Amino acid sequence: MRAQVCRRISALLLSLVPVVGSAAELPKIAKENGRFVFRVDGKPYLVLGVQINNSSAWPATMPQVWPLLDSLPINTVEAPVYWEQIEPRPGEFDFSSVDMLVTQAREHKVRLDLLWFGTWKNGQMHYAPEWVKSDAKKYPRVMNEAGEPVDVLTANSETNLKADIAAYVALMKHLKQIDGEQHTVILMQVENEPGSVGAVRDHGPEAEAAFTKAVPAEVVRAVGKQPGSWRQVFGLDADEAFQAYSIARYIDQVAAAGRQVMDLPSYVNVWQRYPFGTRRPGFDYPSGGATSNVLDIWKAVAHSIDLYAPDTYSDDPGMQEKIVENYDRPDNPLWICETGHTPEYALLFYRVLGRGGFGASSFGIDLTNWNLQSGKQVDWMRDSFAPLLPMAGELAAWNAAGKLKTSVEEPGKTKQVLAFGRWQIVVSYGGYKAGERSEQPAGTEKHDGRLIAAQVGPDEFVVTGIDASIAMQLDKAQGGGHGQILRVEEGSYKNGTWVPLRIWNGDQTDHGMRFRYNPLVLKIKMGSY
Ligand code: DGJ
Repeated sequence: MRAQVCRRISALLLSLVPVVGSAAELPKIAKENGRFVFRVDGKPYLVLGVQINNSSAWPATMPQVWPLLDSLPINTVEAPVYWEQIEPRPGEFDFSSVDMLVTQAREHKVRLDLLWFGTWKNGQMHYAPEWVKSDAKKYPRVMNEAGEPVDVLTANSETNLKADIAAYVALMKHLKQIDGEQHTVILMQVENEPGSVGAVRDHGPEAEAAFTKAVPAEVVRAVGKQPGSWRQVFGLDADEAFQAYSIARYIDQVAAAGRQVMDLPSYVNVWQRYPFGTRRPGFDYPSGGATSNVLDIWKAVAHSIDLYAPDTYSDDPGMQEKIVENYDRPDNPLWICETGHTPEYALLFYRVLGRGGFGASSFGIDLTNWNLQSGKQVDWMRDSFAPLLPMAGELAAWNAAGKLKTSVEEPGKTKQVLAFGRWQIVVSYGGYKAGERSEQPAGTEKHDGRLIAAQVGPDEFVVTGIDASIAMQLDKAQGGGHGQILRVEEGSYKNGTWVPLRIWNGDQTDHGMRFRYNPLVLKIKMGSY
């Protein structure tokens, strides 16, 4: 009783914390002039984020979280909310962990993406409360082909759905109460890596009954097939398609109920069906998650979900590109909520940004001695994000306006051209010697060169990068002429204003402008004669 009163008081105090920024507008993802924009406090937002480990959102562990996070140039933290913790007994809620996350995020001046570990977590049901886990009769599991229950709650049960909705709605009501004005929480991940591990689809009685019905019209339309049964429409893939449909419907209802309370942008993260070899749904990846082969089904069904985010755990550049391609669709804003934590993932961030995405965020970033043994392992994040954090708002705005491009070093592609109207930025990776620029650059030592360029005026550019060198030229195909540098300033953005530090000239500009591993941002003004 006392604990409950304390919790109520703490929620009340949280709701009284003074509001910073625009209180009116909820965070929102929308398509504007053909480009997806994620707005926070009404302004385009770039996610420079990390995700903490699964069991880190506890008062006992947060002291091992914040010191590392505070040392990183980030603006967003992804943190879990556990169903088993917030609803220890049916209908009895304890939001102390949520209050802790929101209060501490404000103290540490970051925004939150809350991860709802509800019915699904990694394609299983391990975060369901004990009272759900221990009553399989009331809260039924997925039954495999042999009629054996597996460790996954079925999406074909109204009881399961009602229980999840009740908990999620209670969470959203609480969030509205403590964060309805300030919007520290900017995103909701509804469930975690949904799907089923251990069965391609549910064979329980409700599922079997639904499987005999015709495929719903919206699904048939979305996949461009003739109407019919699941087998007729999807053939050998019918079980996976049905599972995707069932889970998409369930999660859509959870998300919709939550959004009715507080309309926060909502997404689903996806355990990937890595595009190599034979991949068996339910075994190599959870069956029915929003993998690229069934994404059209999810899109047709789950209208309360803004986007599907591919968890990307491949450091192979080709594979990263393939995954990004699969989710960069006209109907899916690109955002990668989870990546590995090694330097290879820095390039992924630049790839996503170059496609107009909202960012990419590494998983398992804290010092609870799980993913990382030392903060040094994420030094690459400091290199990558340090120049970006002070101008994250500008980058997001330029991206929203279609003014931003990126270049990523790739084997055999050590010289690349970014085209901006009559101007071209020629990017070289490696092979720079004093006084000369190689026609065929050799590539950088770490193969991790990368660059971001934005056209901020007809002849003006803001450029930042790592281990890259650039030269500016006029596009011969567009009239040619002679290009000349009018001014190059090194500087940074401070609260929306460009603050120059010095002018670059001579060796620093005559043989190409070089970006090494130190945070460096240049503003370049070009002219022609
Ligand atoms: C994907 C999940 O979404 C995360 O919560 C975590 O379990 C990672 N896999 C890696 O372990």
